[in-house]
Amino acid sequence: MDVIALDDPTDARIRQWHGVVVAVHDADPGEDPAPDLEQTTARLLSVEQGSRQRLWAAVEDDAMLAVATLRLPGEPGADRPAEIDIQVHPHHRRRGLGTRLLAVAADGLRADGRSSVIAQVSAGTPAVPFVESHGFELVLTLRGLLLRLDDVPPERVAELLAAGPPGYRLVRWRGVVPDDLADALAHAKHAMADLAEYEGLPWDAARVREMAEMVAKRGDRLYTVAAVQGAVVAGFTEVVVPAEDPERASQYDTAVVPEHRGRRLGIWVKAAMLEWLREERPEVREIETDNAGDNSHMLAVNAELGFRWQRESREYLAEVAHLPS
Ligand SMILES: CC(C)(COP(=O)(O)OP(=O)(O)OC[C@H]1O[C@@H](n2cnc3c(N)ncnc32)[C@H](O)[C@@H]1OP(=O)(O)O)[C@@H](O)C(=O)NCCC(=O)NCCS
Repeated sequence: MDVIALDDPTDARIRQWHGVVVAVHDADPGEDPAPDLEQTTARLLSVEQGSRQRLWAAVEDDAMLAVATLRLPGEPGADRPAEIDIQVHPHHRRRGLGTRLLAVAADGLRADGRSSVIAQVSAGTPAVPFVESHGFELVLTLRGLLLRLDDVPPERVAELLAAGPPGYRLVRWRGVVPDDLADALAHAKHAMADLAEYEGLPWDAARVREMAEMVAKRGDRLYTVAAVQGAVVAGFTEVVVPAEDPERASQYDTAVVPEHRGRRLGIWVKAAMLEWLREERPEVREIETDNAGDNSHMLAVNAELGFRWQRESREYLAEVAHLPS
């Protein structure tokens, strides 16, 4: 068995890669549909702005048995964790292929001057003992939740909207934030700092705009509703409707800044979002979201709106120095 780098993969290699990810998906389907070849190709060839990506595959007699993707945000040596994803064909597990790919990716991490790496895995799958056996530590548990819009009666939304606290107004926009709210929105994004802490990324107006531009570049639509007091964004919620599958929207960030908490602003902006989506994007049937397992306030808001528990995913972090070589 050899490990090969696929920095510029051929069509044949992309098809083989796709074969591995589809076999992995079929062995443990979850609720996301299997990617099609076009999506796999896009994932391999297009990289998020400001990031680089490295790809490796384990091959034997020209058959592809396992694949690894390393995403490297920022410049080489940046003080930000990289992200790793390893997928081993179900017929070839427990033969050390995952470990071998992890060791090769660890060399790539060292060559790029990185000190840590994140792996996102689903609870209850072999990935948990795999990463734990390699010195990764749990940093975040995320509950995957799903809201079916048909389960939320319009009267309930109207009731929540009418119960909005005095002194705030609702402002909504599509895509990039209006200039007069850009700094205020970046400030509110700091309210999510608990979650982003280990990523070490400060939010500023430029990063807020860049995030919205990235969504637009993919062809997806970003919708934001904010609760504003004077010039302050006290709370906000963001939903993205993907171009490919507009029936299932994704919840992006929701936050209420600490001084404005306890006034039901979170549920207010989310109710306003539901009302807006109904008018603006009636094809949206579901909204999916991830909540930190210890974020009891957000879990309570989502439960009240009717989000139901779907799955648990976990983020693990490893120091590169502890990885196999
Ligand atoms: C997780 C995954 C990559 C492991 O690949 P693999 O090639 O089977 O892993 P290895 O053979 O290198 O296993 C190394 C060690 O991990 C642990 N491990 C791996 N799979 C395990 C399982 N099913 N049960 C218990 N321990 C397991 C063991 O300690 C194992 O050592 P051992 O075989 O000597 O006991 C593979 O199961 C997979 O592709 N899963 C689906 C994709 C996924 O979730 N990827 C996320 C990972 S970043």
